[in-house]
Amino acid sequence: MSKIVLFVVFAAVILGGAWFALDGNIGTEKVPEPTAADIAFADTATPANPELTAVYDRSCRSCHALDGTGAPLTGFAPDWTARLNARGGLGALVASARNGFEEMPAMGLCNDCSDTNFEELISFMMKGQN
Ligand code: HEC
Repeated sequence: MSKIVLFVVFAAVILGGAWFALDGNIGTEKVPEPTAADIAFADTATPANPELTAVYDRSCRSCHALDGTGAPLTGFAPDWTARLNARGGLGALVASARNGFEEMPAMGLCNDCSDTNFEELISFMMKGQN
């Protein structure tokens, strides 16, 4: 009997996890999965400004340029646009970077970043260029 209960609980956890993973909504917008081209682009996209590149490379890149980290991919506009709309603008995304947001660590591994740095980094990541 207790094995059946355990099985049901186990199945519910697995199915619940799968349901959560399939749920690609941000705010009210459905965000598609990035394609292989989106993933390849994120891997190589680099800011035009070398100073911004230095900050991006030592902080944001480790999560935002890699598929599967849960971070919106650099240059993958649908995810960024949905977040921009759901949070209410670029200023709110800067606040997410400064304060952290769910799986996103506060300051994004850039403890010396100013809000202006975050604004430039986020603007770059939204388009994959600057
Ligand atoms: C250790 C991994 C990691 C690093 C490093 C990182 N991020 Fe993130 N970031 C994430 C994850 C994961 C999310 C998605 C959070 C979520 O929706 O649960 C995210 C989301 C965001 C968001 C959207 C937040 C929102 O309100 O939806 C912004 C903006 C952001 N990151 C900016 C940055 C910036 C700027 C840097 C570099 C200074 C950076 N991140 C570095 C993991 C990281």
